[in-house]
Amino acid sequence: MQSIHCFKFRNKDFPIKGYFQINRKPKVQSIPKPDREKAVILVTGANGQLGRRIVQHLIARPPAPIAGRLAVSVRDPGKAADLAARGVEVRHGDFDHPETLASAFAGVERLVLVSTDGPRAQRIIQHRNAVKAAAATGVRHVYYTSFLDVAADSPSEFAAVHRDTEAALVDSGLAHTLLRLPLYAEGLAMIAWLALETGVLYLPAGSGAVSLVSRDDLAQAIAAAALAPRLDKRIYELTGQVAADYASITARIARVSGRPLAYKAVEESDYVTALVEHGVPAWLAGALGKLFAAVAEGRLATTGTDFAALVGHPPKSLDCVIHEHFAPRSKA
Ligand SMILES: NC(=O)c1ccc[n+]([C@@H]2O[C@H](COP(=O)([O-])OP(=O)(O)OC[C@H]3O[C@@H](n4cnc5c(N)ncnc54)[C@H](OP(=O)(O)O)[C@@H]3O)[C@@H](O)[C@H]2O)c1
Repeated sequence: MQSIHCFKFRNKDFPIKGYFQINRKPKVQSIPKPDREKAVILVTGANGQLGRRIVQHLIARPPAPIAGRLAVSVRDPGKAADLAARGVEVRHGDFDHPETLASAFAGVERLVLVSTDGPRAQRIIQHRNAVKAAAATGVRHVYYTSFLDVAADSPSEFAAVHRDTEAALVDSGLAHTLLRLPLYAEGLAMIAWLALETGVLYLPAGSGAVSLVSRDDLAQAIAAAALAPRLDKRIYELTGQVAADYASITARIARVSGRPLAYKAVEESDYVTALVEHGVPAWLAGALGKLFAAVAEGRLATTGTDFAALVGHPPKSLDCVIHEHFAPRSKA
């Protein structure tokens, strides 16, 4: 079998030769208070999959220990008892209840604002509440987990949510960094595993390509940004190294898994109807249909070097991600 180099420093297709030389003297957006030893960092959504991984990377990233300087805000502090046991201050904060946010964000210098899930209008209000509270409590810098597609003419509802929050940050006057995330690699794994049962992956994505990164890689880049004494840019696109369309992705999965899998492009309306028939809430089915319409328009195919600029190496390659999720494992 062809060997797959998942070890990040050995990625031969890393497309940024000379990057570190070019960036030795960054143009720099300074973080207002660059003394990282005293920085109080707070991560919202730390009971979620991405937020928890960000915290784990903040704890692990040298120079540890971070005890006394790292806090989280979550809706249910009881679910973060393991973090409290590791010296992380656990605070209660709920964007649906803005009155909880003054104490949640008190004394915070660097706020990692993890976007919420749910219907569009609800998320917009939640994020605006969080931004307003951050400004009111004197947060020094916000690191927001935005989305690769924020275009005003995008069909995607997710684009509308993140565009609104980015605008709220600008309007607030807060210093901020926009960390625009691509689609999670785990999302592909989930839908492709289901598709392997029939051998066909049906999506309304046309021949649009996507750049995929795992949550853990993204969390590592977000943690690196939150700890950086200074940053070169206001916007980072944390994309994968390559973008691939679903025909190419399914062909790779079939090769690695040894099971037949093909991609078939379908109409958005048929896809949404099928999701609803399978029990997906109507708002989510509609949002996913529009998301893949945006994919079909090539809006999630960006690749670049921002991830490596923050972390020091690129994220796992697409082949590596597919190998991790789909290579048959020994039962021994
Ligand atoms: N790029 C992609 O492919 C992709 C895919 C799915 C989602 N996303 C976005 O990325 C975010 C994080 O992803 P994930 O995998 O960690 O999702 P997840 O595990 O479903 O987590 C959802 C997060 O939303 C937070 N949240 C929900 N309602 C909230 C409220 N009222 N106040 C404060 N926080 C609230 C939760 O906070 P608690 O910790 O308090 O529970 C939790 O951290 C999602 O919420 C969504 O915006 C991106």
